[in-house]
Amino acid sequence: MDDVTIARALHVLAVVLWIGGLGLVTTVLLPALRRFPDPAQRIALFEAIEGRFGAQARFSILLAGLSGLWMLIRMDASDRFALPSYWWMHAMVLLWLVFAALIFVLEPLVLHHRFADRARQHPEATFRIVHRFHMALLALALLTILGAVAGSHGLMLFG
Ligand code: HEM
Repeated sequence: MDDVTIARALHVLAVVLWIGGLGLVTTVLLPALRRFPDPAQRIALFEAIEGRFGAQARFSILLAGLSGLWMLIRMDASDRFALPSYWWMHAMVLLWLVFAALIFVLEPLVLHHRFADRARQHPEATFRIVHRFHMALLALALLTILGAVAGSHGLMLFG
């Protein structure tokens, strides 16, 4: 089962890069930008920094998904989805689907243009919404990580 161990190591690495980056954007970058007085500068900085993180996030999401799927198949673990005690398996897959839809489909096609337009017209409200949205995603990701590490190392909640 060496390949499962390698997949697990890559899975954790990908999650650290991805959710770690999300954590930095949410708890450091966005609060700092919200204090910037000039909206144009604020938008330019946000796009420059989150744009660079976007490439890293896309790579990490792909790696987390592939390594997760590899483990799932090799551990023959799909029957877990029928058991409530494996809620964290559902949480991982759902979270992955939400992020993949956001970053590969919605962001390039819709959100990017909408953000720039709205942020120019209503900078305060737009940054507040963007910040809240990031906080909600980060909270869900942290809960999923707690559940996945505890659950895969034997702590069973809900039966
Ligand atoms: C398609 C998406 C995903 C699949 C198929 C998947 C699958 C898996 C599998 C099969 C395991 C091993 C469970 C065990 O050893 O019992 C695992 C572990 C783990 N996953 Fe995922 N995962 C996915 C997405 C995610 C996401 C989005 C996160 C975090 C936000 C995440 C975080 C973790 C963590 C922290 C572990 C525990 C590693 C350890 O301590 O050994 N996974 N995942």
